[in-house]
Amino acid sequence: MFAKNCVNSVRRAALNGTFVAKRTKVTLPELDWDFNALEPYISGQINELHYTKHHQTYVNGFNTAVEQLSDLKEQLGKDPSPTIARKIIGVQQNLKFHGGGYTNHCLFWKNLTPESQGGGQLPKGAFADQIKQQFGSLDNLIKLTNAKLAGVQGSGWAFIVRNLDNGGKLDVVQTYNQDTVTGSLIPLVAIDAWEHAYYLQYQNRKAEYFGAIWNVINWKEAARRYDSCEIN
Ligand SMILES: [Fe+2]
Repeated sequence: MFAKNCVNSVRRAALNGTFVAKRTKVTLPELDWDFNALEPYISGQINELHYTKHHQTYVNGFNTAVEQLSDLKEQLGKDPSPTIARKIIGVQQNLKFHGGGYTNHCLFWKNLTPESQGGGQLPKGAFADQIKQQFGSLDNLIKLTNAKLAGVQGSGWAFIVRNLDNGGKLDVVQTYNQDTVTGSLIPLVAIDAWEHAYYLQYQNRKAEYFGAIWNVINWKEAARRYDSCEIN
C-alpha cells in the first residue's frame, strides 16, 4: 500500500521538478514563525543570523554554481575538451555543498515550530505508530538521533528518514558538511549540527542544544512527509 502511494508521490515530485527547473534562481523560503518564536530553546539572534546570513550564503552559492554549470555546458558544446570537462567537475563540489546547504536548511526551518504551536508534540497516526513499532517510544528515537548527532565530528546533519528501499521503515542517517539525503530516503526531520546553529547560545555545550531542540520539533510536518512521501 505504502509503496504504491510513494511511487506515485515520487512521480508527482518528478513532474513538479520539471516545472520548478524553469525557474532560474532559488530564494530563501518564507518562515512560518518569527525569529524569536523558538525561545528559550533557540534564540532569536541565532535564527536571524542562521537564516539571513548562513542560509542566504547557500542560496547564493547554489545559484552561482548553477549559472557556472550552464555556462560551461555551453562552452562544452563549442569546445568538447578535457579542460572544460575539468571545470565542470570543479563546479560539482559547489553544487553539492551549496545545493545541500540550501535544501537542508529549507527542511530545517519547516521542521521547527514554536512550542505554543505544537512544537515537540507527536500527533497520533501512522507515523506515531511506526515510531512505536520500531523504537518502542519517541524518546528512544530521540535518543538514537542524539547519539548520531553527538557522533558528528566537525560539521554535519542528522536526518530521520523514511527509507523506501526498506519497506518504508524509519531510519536515522548522519551526514557530514552539507551532504543531504536523496533518492529513496525521504527526510522527515533534519537537525543542523553545525556550530552556527547553536554556538551563540550554547557555546561548547552542544549536547544541551541537541536536548533542547526537540521541544520545538514540528512532528506534524514530519508526519505529513511520512504519509505523503513528499517534502514540499
Ligand atoms: Fe545551518
